[in-house]
Amino acid sequence: MLNIDLRGKRAFVAGVADDGGFGFAIAKALAEAGATVCVGTWPPALGIFRTMLERGKLDESLRLGDGSKMAFEKIYALDADFDLADDVPAELRENKRYRDQGDVSIQGVTERLRADFGEPCLDIVVHSLANGPEVKKPLLETSRKGYLAAVGVSAYSYASMVQRLGPLVRPGGSFLALTYMASERVVPGYGGGMSSAKAALESDTRVLAYEAGRKWGHRINVISAGPWASRAASAIGFIGQMISYVTANSPLPEAITAAEVGATAAFLASPLGAGITGTTVYVDKGYHAMGVAVDRDTL
Ligand SMILES: NC(=O)c1ccc[n+]([C@@H]2O[C@H](COP(=O)([O-])OP(=O)(O)OC[C@H]3O[C@@H](n4cnc5c(N)ncnc54)[C@H](O)[C@@H]3O)[C@@H](O)[C@H]2O)c1
Repeated sequence: MLNIDLRGKRAFVAGVADDGGFGFAIAKALAEAGATVCVGTWPPALGIFRTMLERGKLDESLRLGDGSKMAFEKIYALDADFDLADDVPAELRENKRYRDQGDVSIQGVTERLRADFGEPCLDIVVHSLANGPEVKKPLLETSRKGYLAAVGVSAYSYASMVQRLGPLVRPGGSFLALTYMASERVVPGYGGGMSSAKAALESDTRVLAYEAGRKWGHRINVISAGPWASRAASAIGFIGQMISYVTANSPLPEAITAAEVGATAAFLASPLGAGITGTTVYVDKGYHAMGVAVDRDTL
């Protein structure tokens, strides 16, 4: 039998703050396959996430196929907007959600992982986070600041994570990020430079695959997921319509599930994906292959 077996492997999944997004579904799929999972959580969301875990609010979602409950080995505070502690503005450092968290930068989390588990200590790194402060604004109205913030948090952070965590990952490790088709086709409403950030993320995946492949033997991929009503996507405002439209117009006329993205991530991270790097893998029921709407009456 050909199994996805991740026993003995450790994953770090950045971008988990509830049980509703792709990061959680990926963490769960990796755990189902036997991996130990640490997560990175954005400081503003960390308190409520810990409280939900402690009060058992996520117990149902944490239940694995064998009846056991998934437990995160560690939860690290991570703000992927910052590479080094010194990059965090003083005002934010003093903010109540940041001041007791230590160094929340990408380098800070790298150091904590090293201190907690030694080097090398990881096999799988997942980047499942994005933020565009002006996402609701069309590009024609997006400020330089908003655009660069979207690209910094949503794209550069992946390059920064590969740079810094690369040495902590055992040879043959797997990095994975999440992208969206707005990088290559126009999706009205996905604004604020987020489409540009996803285009950068996909391009960087190819370059990083080459560089990190030659340097460490790591694989770098990205999943282009169909629309899913996560907390982040719901904040954009029209996710329900997106899901209905894509469902009606896809080769497989059904909505994607986060578990499908999780399963693909587990496959890519496993030895079964050993030949795959530098690739954008679509988990979207085939929507990306379509040219025009199925129902011509709407044209
Ligand atoms: N939901 C969709 O329809 C969809 C489709 C394709 C791709 N994606 C991508 O999937 C990934 C995960 O998003 P999701 O939709 O599952 O939503 P989500 O809300 O579960 O995940 C986004 C996470 O990013 C975190 N985050 C925001 N800013 C951060 C920062 N500065 N530092 C660290 N963490 C930060 C949030 O706290 C949240 O946990 C994102 O890259 C998103 O663009 C989503």
